[in-house]
Amino acid sequence: MPIEWRAEGRQLHLHNERISYVMKVLDRGTLAHLYFGSRLATGRDYGHFLRHSNMARLNEVLDPLPLELPTAGSGDFRVPMLTVRHADGSTVLDLAYREHEITPGKPHLDGLPSTYVDDGAEADTVEVCLVDGNSSLRVRLITTIYADRPVITRSMRVINEGPSEVKLNTAMSAVLDLPDREWHLLQLAGEWGRETHPVDAPLVRGTRGLRSQRGSSGHQQNPFLALHRPSTTEATGEAIGLSLLYSGNFLAEVEVDSADTVRARIGMDPETVRWRVAAGMDLQVPEAVLVWSDEGLGGVSDAYHRLYRQRLVTGAWRDKPRPVLFNSWEGVYFDFDEDTLVEMATAARDLGAELFVVDDGWFGQRDDDTSSLGDWTVDLRKLPSGLPDLVERVNDLGLDFGIWIEPEMVNPRSRLFENHPEWAVGYPGRPRTEIRNQFVLDMSNPEVVDYLERVIGSILSSAPIAYVKWDYNRVITEPYGASLPADRQNEFFHRYMLGVYDLYSRLTERFPEVLFESCASGGGRNDPGMLAFAPQAWISDVTDAVDRQRIQYGTSLVYPLVAMGAHVSAVPNHQTGRVTPLDTRAAVAFFGNLGYELDPRALDEAAAERVREQIAWYKQRRELIHGGRFHRLLSPFEGDGNEAAWMVVADERDRALVGWYRTLSVPLPGPGLLRLRGLDPDARYRVTLWPAADDALARANELERGGDELMRQGLFLDDEAWQSQLRGDFQARIFELTRVVPS
Ligand code: GLA
Repeated sequence: MPIEWRAEGRQLHLHNERISYVMKVLDRGTLAHLYFGSRLATGRDYGHFLRHSNMARLNEVLDPLPLELPTAGSGDFRVPMLTVRHADGSTVLDLAYREHEITPGKPHLDGLPSTYVDDGAEADTVEVCLVDGNSSLRVRLITTIYADRPVITRSMRVINEGPSEVKLNTAMSAVLDLPDREWHLLQLAGEWGRETHPVDAPLVRGTRGLRSQRGSSGHQQNPFLALHRPSTTEATGEAIGLSLLYSGNFLAEVEVDSADTVRARIGMDPETVRWRVAAGMDLQVPEAVLVWSDEGLGGVSDAYHRLYRQRLVTGAWRDKPRPVLFNSWEGVYFDFDEDTLVEMATAARDLGAELFVVDDGWFGQRDDDTSSLGDWTVDLRKLPSGLPDLVERVNDLGLDFGIWIEPEMVNPRSRLFENHPEWAVGYPGRPRTEIRNQFVLDMSNPEVVDYLERVIGSILSSAPIAYVKWDYNRVITEPYGASLPADRQNEFFHRYMLGVYDLYSRLTERFPEVLFESCASGGGRNDPGMLAFAPQAWISDVTDAVDRQRIQYGTSLVYPLVAMGAHVSAVPNHQTGRVTPLDTRAAVAFFGNLGYELDPRALDEAAAERVREQIAWYKQRRELIHGGRFHRLLSPFEGDGNEAAWMVVADERDRALVGWYRTLSVPLPGPGLLRLRGLDPDARYRVTLWPAADDALARANELERGGDELMRQGLFLDDEAWQSQLRGDFQARIFELTRVVPS
């Protein structure tokens, strides 16, 4: 049994081959945390881990005992998991163990995204029931361990069994207490166009919080944090990840207390999300996913990549190769008609595309971003024969058809706003802030969700639409839900998110064949919550090949390559003005989910030929790229940041692709070696380069070489090789390794 209950010592030990997670019920009933890390022997008592002098007096002060479900006002003075206000105004809460239940599999969380199992044998779950004696408040703390992954998932349901309402002021998803502070905190920070840049710093006393209060997870911080030892590298050493399956306001926080113990917590942002639990009602909080690895940050990433692509993403697209798409946005923006689109699709088809996506501008009277969001009817000025006709023409070319929508928004210049001003978020009588000329629709109002299901549903059923890019292009200001009573306004942000998840569930259930891609001005809502509904995300509006190396590098800390929309666009780049070689743009986008976002009619014959070759190359390798183990080799955030490299290795270790990028050309760069990882040391590999070139770099590397030497010595990036065709800025090469079968 992967979850062991020792009645003597009242201890729960969750374990698999790689990890152990141990909790203990103290005499006073409090649930203490004993351990999370490398697998420990079963059948043993670990109660002595509570070694601190204070800890010996288990029935007195809880501070600084490691706890599973810390509450405020019960003798623990660190950041809490749960705080309440009872009907009589008191905030005292002392949760004591009542019982627990161990079951195979993993429960589904109502209304919220969650990881899942395909078979009950993949995981085991323990639900610990804790009760606050005085108030009849009951908590079910839900912990799952996967059998073959170094993963623990955690969430809780707070149930009010008493006669009066209880206010939840803080209801986090997970708390993790660690016994020492020799850790660094790694976060993914950013901004529009600079999403998910890793920021890494040693822990210091006090609290450090990463949060969003914008209504979405945001460009600024991702709902994730990692703790790693100072000596941990990409490939070695201890690292822990906490990732939250939630797309709204969140808090990920670490506290180092006076005893130098560490508490990490993650969940909905307690300052902006509060909840009233009426008598007989409950609140289910989002799920957190904890990963432990002794294979460095790369080990943490690998666990997230596999879990999220195999057991978070749902539906038909989970296991299917994703189509190479052409998106109209940077090619023509709002300026098109039916023939333009069909010409673009024809050119894209000739290059090897599989899906043609009409981005913004096909509905209402939308010639720029000042109008029409909310009016989801086709613009007959641009598409006089309607959407079904356009879709048919694109399908006749042999391409699937995709479309852009931004369901959660409304322009003040729209019929929808004229008819339903009360559906826009904002306080009646006060000015609403316009951002990108738009307001946010109130997804906390079920009427709005019903309406959107009807209109979006009728678009999707009007024609065989295979793909939807679901955008979300502003943050929430003046948070007020007109349909909510005064005493529920604190719930607005969470109810908004529940409305979004509800709409996504209804549409994905009704249209299971449609591939959804989430977007929020690029990566403004790129989180695991979205991934549960939309198997891929547009991770940044910036398509510049240099910036993209950084964004994809950081995003890969948590998110699998298959989930990262990565497009080749025209130069000068529309966001940065930089001119990079076409093959460099592709060599970056290959390590994601490849698409093109340019006007294919504008390519000259030589460029078209390159794109044709790129797409053909990628199609033969996308299953390897999306299914293999990803290793980050050289960080564009370290040293002078001039180089980056990464690789993907097939699980059978018979194939691998290495991407290597140099931003600025360096005169006489000196000898360079790129050591690889994850290969079979006993195998021999044939090395070939992309793009193919008869130059010194190819001659130095296009050999048959042992996996051992490739990992210990590495690929040759020496100066002589570099002289060749790779002079000039913004260069990239891909090295392909294929195992040689002994004859
Ligand atoms: C956002 C998206 C872009 C594009 C535009 C359309 O900015 O991130 O990719 O779809 O909206 O208006």
